[in-house]
Amino acid sequence: MKLIVAYIQPHKLQDVKRALYKNEVYKISVTNALGCGAQKGYHESYRGVDFEVNLLKKVRLEIAVNEDFVDKTIEAIIEGARTGNIGDGKIFIVTLGECVRIRTSEVGSEAIG
Ligand SMILES: Nc1ncnc2c1ncn2[C@@H]1O[C@H](COP(=O)(O)OP(=O)(O)OP(=O)(O)O)[C@@H](O)[C@H]1O
Ligand SMILES: [Mg+2]
Repeated sequence: MKLIVAYIQPHKLQDVKRALYKNEVYKISVTNALGCGAQKGYHESYRGVDFEVNLLKKVRLEIAVNEDFVDKTIEAIIEGARTGNIGDGKIFIVTLGECVRIRTSEVGSEAIG
């Protein structure tokens, strides 16, 4: 099991959701985030407007998947989020120790899937 954590441009969320659905990835948590990457938050263009702030608005996605869904989840995020410009985002893949469905006490791949 892996936890896929991605930071993407907010305006790419719909495209990423569409690409995930296409790849049969339906379970997702989404939160608003602030962050900066290699450019330290400076000189990034959002919808054509340059602004200089330290922390830029990003959307954080968390998707827990079984191993056979890792690749297609990553591919969908890239397909939906990439523009080719700086600030497109980043994906972190974390080995997931356990997962429990609260309603049934199922664990592991049964609980995730
Ligand atoms: N090493 C990191 N640790 C934690 N969060 C990060 C890291 N790198 C990027 N992020 C998060 O991802 C967001 C998008 O990062 P970004 O796409 O700007 O990465 P980058 O390394 O600067 O690549 P690029 O040169 O394409 O802009 C950041 O605003 C931040 O929220
Ligand atoms: Mg950057």
